[in-house]
Amino acid sequence: MSEAKLSTITMDEDKNNDNILVIKDLTKIFPHPSDPHTKIPILSGVNQKFTFNQLNFLMGASGSGKSTFIRMILGVSPVSAGEIYFKHYSIHKLYIMKYSIRADYWSRIGYVNQFPAKTLCLDLSIKENLSLYQHLGKKKGILNLEKMDYAKYLKFFNLSLDLNTPVRKLSGGEIQRLNLACVLIKLPKLILCDEPTSQLDDENKINIINILDKYRESNNACVLITTHNEEITRNHKLFILKNGKIQEI
Ligand SMILES: Nc1ncnc2c1ncn2[C@@H]1O[C@H](COP(=O)(O)OP(=O)(O)OP(=O)(O)O)[C@@H](O)[C@H]1O
Ligand SMILES: [Mg+2]
Repeated sequence: MSEAKLSTITMDEDKNNDNILVIKDLTKIFPHPSDPHTKIPILSGVNQKFTFNQLNFLMGASGSGKSTFIRMILGVSPVSAGEIYFKHYSIHKLYIMKYSIRADYWSRIGYVNQFPAKTLCLDLSIKENLSLYQHLGKKKGILNLEKMDYAKYLKFFNLSLDLNTPVRKLSGGEIQRLNLACVLIKLPKLILCDEPTSQLDDENKINIINILDKYRESNNACVLITTHNEEITRNHKLFILKNGKIQEI
């Protein structure tokens, strides 16, 4: 992969701003599915900052609350208590704000779902999905929408596929890599990746983490990645979610 080429995927503003995600006293409680009066605590007063100068990894046992945490930062799962800030956005209040503010936030962030087929349009082609995501992004100045060479762009992700292929025909790992390609084409300043390498072989895992690291560096982007794979966290910042608390390792 060419570093020079990847660094051309950049944003034109906020070069000097700190892109810090700040979590204050965050608590999440779910009602018990069969007894709504019984409360199940998932997060209990989490305080944490995630910066842009390294990739931030979050590990934790299955069911510990990683996806729930990501979905709260995404602004689609209301907090039970506490605050979440990214730049000037008060994300804990997002769900009570008017739609235009939520849409503005979502246009500036990227989200890789743990189950990527949920967020791509399976009946649309690879090219149509990329184009859709590109239009959802806030910054359209740097990338020329008409002249964007999708085939060349996808090679960064080790994808050499016919652009007219419907996404439903791709393998699990190809869908996962395409999902990240779609997310980065939006040029987000905050990237939330929920197990983005879970279906990939070792070589593709390393490539995806390198892409995210180079993107982060070139764009001053804040990146939070959940994983069960400790190997990919090496040389990066690692946090553990356990018993409702997040601790830096
Ligand atoms: N909407 C919901 N209502 C009630 N309980 C929920 C809801 N969403 C998640 N949970 C529960 O919260 C806990 C944390 O789930 P979550 O998906 O965040 O875990 P996770 O750490 O991402 O696990 P995995 O590693 O398996 O993906 C689980 O016990 C799950 O059943
Ligand atoms: Mg999960």
